[in-house]
Amino acid sequence: MTATTIGDFDLARIDRAFIDNPFPTLRALREKHPVHRMADGSVLLTRHADCQKVYQSRAMLSDKRAEFGRKFGAGPLFTHHSTSLVFNDPPYHTVVRKLLAGAFTPRKLAEMEPLIEGIVERMLDELEDMGRFDLIAAFAMVLPTEIISFMLGIPESYRRKLRGYSLAILGALDPVVPPERLAAGHAAVTEFGAILADLIAHRRAHPEGAAQGEVLENLIFGEVDGRHLTEEELVQNCIFLLNAGHETTTSLVGNTIAMLLAHPDQLRLLQREPGLIATAVEESLRVESPLQIGNRLAGEALDLDDCVLPEGTYIHTSIAGANRDPAVFEAPETVDITRRPNRHLAFASGIHVCLGATLARIEGKLAVGRFVSRFPRLAADGPAELMGLARFRGYARLPVSIR
Ligand code: HEM
Repeated sequence: MTATTIGDFDLARIDRAFIDNPFPTLRALREKHPVHRMADGSVLLTRHADCQKVYQSRAMLSDKRAEFGRKFGAGPLFTHHSTSLVFNDPPYHTVVRKLLAGAFTPRKLAEMEPLIEGIVERMLDELEDMGRFDLIAAFAMVLPTEIISFMLGIPESYRRKLRGYSLAILGALDPVVPPERLAAGHAAVTEFGAILADLIAHRRAHPEGAAQGEVLENLIFGEVDGRHLTEEELVQNCIFLLNAGHETTTSLVGNTIAMLLAHPDQLRLLQREPGLIATAVEESLRVESPLQIGNRLAGEALDLDDCVLPEGTYIHTSIAGANRDPAVFEAPETVDITRRPNRHLAFASGIHVCLGATLARIEGKLAVGRFVSRFPRLAADGPAELMGLARFRGYARLPVSIR
């Protein structure tokens, strides 16, 4: 998009070229229209400081019933997205978050590391024999699916269905959603919800002795100030957690390997110095954030440096734009796996800051770190294919060879 037309940019009219490479447009917006108003009255923020201010303000609301009502009508997608904690405000948000938080403490996550390491090593052994494969299907999506399924106690037989469900449900959050994608989203919530309702009923009937599924147990049996979750709240928050837990982490693994393949000097550096894996993962989170756009509704006027957003403004926070803001990141377009500090907003911030950030980092570091050191001859093996979503950035296919 040229500088003269950038003022006309509208998230409601984006095309595949923007989805595949939004960064030049976001840069032009940040330079010319950092607080960019669109035809429906909503604004897109591309500066790091502005996005951070939105996330830090308790008056910026996550409840999107009005917006989702217009977009989804009454139906499964509306029920799902308006019941999950991420699209709610206190006090309901606080109740669900507290019920979940016990399973994400540093001690609990440290206990899971041997499980994660075991899955990664087993997968690498299998890949060694294959030689050439689609990195997404054969590797990136396997670990996060196994881990979140373990935490929720989802039986093996259902696990292979998760990615299809989550792409259908999360895909419906894109700014532009064709009717067939909406229909697929509604169907996915219904099917997935029925499976979870069965599992929950089984768990209620047999509460004792399950080796897996601590998160589900906390949600079913836990209470906060005497408040239990209703059946609908349980099912919809489980769906959200399963989606949030594996979709973005699959993209983290895929995007990081794709980033390294596109920057062979950085790949070789990581292979020479495996200790750089932590900063390499942070750099991937910055330049290829798996979640690119957030939203809030201004519950009161918000004072940005050079303007005031009135109460009632619908706000899009461009995480992808903020993460390349030269006011915060030196040489923001350069991929540097040694970058430190790296104050990216890939996990947002404030009261909705990603609850799974530590887990995602552990999974990303182990999966990518072990993969690139086990396969020193790693190379691209044909054209990669992005998922084609504006909000969630990741690959549908990433063919690689390791010989
Ligand atoms: C690289 C991987 C991940 C990324 C980039 C990511 C990103 C995010 C972002 C940006 C938010 C804030 C959304 C908003 O308020 O606008 C969020 C919320 C959340 N994420 Fe993640 N996430 C990742 C992995 C995970 C994992 C592995 C889990 C769980 C196992 C998880 C669970 C959650 C939950 C429960 C919330 C809602 C928190 C709340 O509303 O209080 N995420 N995530």
